[in-house]
Amino acid sequence: MDYRKEIEEVFEREPVPEHILAKMKEYERKGYEVPDERLIKRPSHIAGIKASSEINTGVLDAVAKEIRAGMTTQQIDDIVSEYTLSHGAVCAPLNFEGYPKSVCTSINNEVCHGIPSRLRHLHDGDIVNVDVSTIYKGYYSDASRMFMIGNVSAERRRLTEETKRCLEIGLEAAQPWNTVGDIGYAISKYARSKGYSVVRDLGGHGVGIEFHEDPFVAHVGKPKRGMLLVPGMIITIEPMINIGGASVSIDAYNGWTIYTKDGSDSAQWEHSILITETGNEILTY
Ligand code: MF3
Ligand code: CO
Repeated sequence: MDYRKEIEEVFEREPVPEHILAKMKEYERKGYEVPDERLIKRPSHIAGIKASSEINTGVLDAVAKEIRAGMTTQQIDDIVSEYTLSHGAVCAPLNFEGYPKSVCTSINNEVCHGIPSRLRHLHDGDIVNVDVSTIYKGYYSDASRMFMIGNVSAERRRLTEETKRCLEIGLEAAQPWNTVGDIGYAISKYARSKGYSVVRDLGGHGVGIEFHEDPFVAHVGKPKRGMLLVPGMIITIEPMINIGGASVSIDAYNGWTIYTKDGSDSAQWEHSILITETGNEILTY
């Protein structure tokens, strides 16, 4: 089965509804940045991305059951790869632009893209983000959760919980005919009100047919700016929130792992969502 060919054929077979195209044109005339039609998923695409998302959620649930102090991040990688492969799917991170593992595990001051290792143990008091991405029958899904290991300080617990709230606030802003700027504005306003900073160098993205599609979903922004959110678009929202400054640096040795520059702790939660005509649907629950 050639999944790419089938996915392409869906674009031809299932056009974007006329009333959606008409509304996009209206917004375009008003000066909004409107998405290319290829960023609007069609019913068969959406069914495929939902099936992928279901497996992705199963992976995170499997990790949630097993994760504990003393285990290595390689053991998390093993859980992810075994669950994924046994469900007929593929781990999207593995070999993606040379990434060497099946999942990202980012601990404490690591912002994202932590690489699982046999040498890295989870310790009591750590907070860890597990970021899982799945390809199933050619369709991509992407979500991450934080896990608090054992007895976590009040400061780390608050960061973890408020970052989840940032994702929820982003979800509330992700309404049809809003823009990605509305999402970033809502998240950054809340995060800053809690005394936190928002990472600007990385963000969410369109997802489904490729791992990372347009638009870039910044977690900062201005109302009514950036790309219009049109029913049928599938995007991730994945705020990275820091206790200290927003600046980050990349690991000079592995070329992947992103750290806070000031060494402060960072947290992240992520969902993939479908923009609908009435709101949005979280695909990765
Ligand atoms: N899952 C990450 C995201 O949320 C991307 C990881 S890229 C990888 O977009 F290669 F490091 F896996
Ligand atoms: Co993502």
